[in-house]
Formats: sequence, C-alpha cells, structure tokens
Amino acid sequence: MKFFVDTADTAEIADLAATGLLDGVTTNPSLIAKSGRKFLDVIAEICALVDGPVSAEVTALDTPTMLKEAAVLRKIAPNVTIKAPLTWDGLKACKALSSEGVSVNVTLCFSANQALLAAKAGAAFISPFIGRLDDIGEDGMQLIRDIRTLYDNYPALKTEILAASIRSPEHVKQAALIGADVVTVPPSVLRDLAKHALTDKGLDAFMADWAKSGQTIL
Ligand code: E4P
Repeated sequence: MKFFVDTADTAEIADLAATGLLDGVTTNPSLIAKSGRKFLDVIAEICALVDGPVSAEVTALDTPTMLKEAAVLRKIAPNVTIKAPLTWDGLKACKALSSEGVSVNVTLCFSANQALLAAKAGAAFISPFIGRLDDIGEDGMQLIRDIRTLYDNYPALKTEILAASIRSPEHVKQAALIGADVVTVPPSVLRDLAKHALTDKGLDAFMADWAKSGQTIL
C-alpha cells in the first residue's frame, strides 16, 4: 500500500518525506487556503520535496477552463497529478488529459458508479471519501469494498483506489485489509500509525533493565 499525505503544509511534508515512507501528496483548495500561501508556489515546493505524485486540483467547473488550468499546473513539475472533481465536466477533462498520458486523480467520489465512470475516463487514481460518508451516517469503508470488487471484476481498469478523507489509524487498517492501493492521510494520522501504548511501556521497561545492567553497545 502506498502512503500519501493529505496536506499543503510543506514543513510537515519535508519532515515526513525524510522518513522515506512517503509515496506522494494530495492537496485540495481548502488545504491550500489553510496554508495561506500561493497555490503554484506551494505545489512547486511540494514537488521538490517528494518524488511521487503530487495532486494539484483544478478549480474551474467547466471542462475547457479545467484543461487550461491543468496546462498551467502540469508545467510546475513532472510529478504533478491533476486532480479533477467527479462531475461530467471533470470526467470529460479526465478523459482528455488521460488520453494525452497525463495522470489524473478524480476526487469527491461517494459512489461505486462514480468510481466506475472515473476508471472509464482513464483516471490514474479515484479518491473515495471515507470520513465524509461516515459523517452523514453511511459506511465509508463499504464504498472502498465495493470499488475494490468492481475494479477487480474488470482487470482492464487500471485506476488505483486512493482512500481519502481518512480520520484514524483504524481507517488506514481497514482500507489496507480491503486492498485499497493508496491511502492519503493527515500528517497526525500518519504519525499515529506508529504509536501503541504497549510499545511505549515495553520500551520503558527495556531501557530501565538496560540501565541496571550497566552495559553499553558503543
Ligand atoms: C483527498 O484528496 C482530500 O483532500 C481529503 O482526503 C479530504 O479529507 P477531509 O474530508 O478530511 O477534508
């Protein structure tokens, strides 16, 4: 499973990239607004920090303008993935871009049928939003399960399932068990994946016993 981080905070990205465990980055207009920085500058900086795909989202709602925006974003760096919304205009833009070999992440997916359309439009990634479905009382993880089954029924579809709107380590585990190809997680959730109370407790005990032994390795 690939790990992407879902943020426009370049300090966080630099820190996580240094672990060697980061496979890519996703951003969205809300995350860019939160950064308080210029969109193109932030994407350029992220692309220099991470070798993998960096999703940069178009903000137009019509296909022709989406394609113009995509042309600007693609010029930033070769690892820019164009993010487009799951609307008919977004799907048309996805089809046009993917036909030219451009990597597209179709976002705001809330149904298996939407995921099927994105795959047919040649999306490199489909982003189903787990947390936002959970928020309205639906089962976000069931959507990942459904899309996995659907894509596996048609091996010609090469779209990767990018589980998004992840809120907890449990979401990551469930998405991995189902076989999502990628998870994109907030930095705090990525860090929480390494945490366990028994790890901390066990390490404290080992260190206490080691100190009592009076030994050193170096
Ligand atoms: C994915 O690409 C989105 O940026 C993101 O996962 C949305 O998450 P949220 O529902 O926590 O805003």
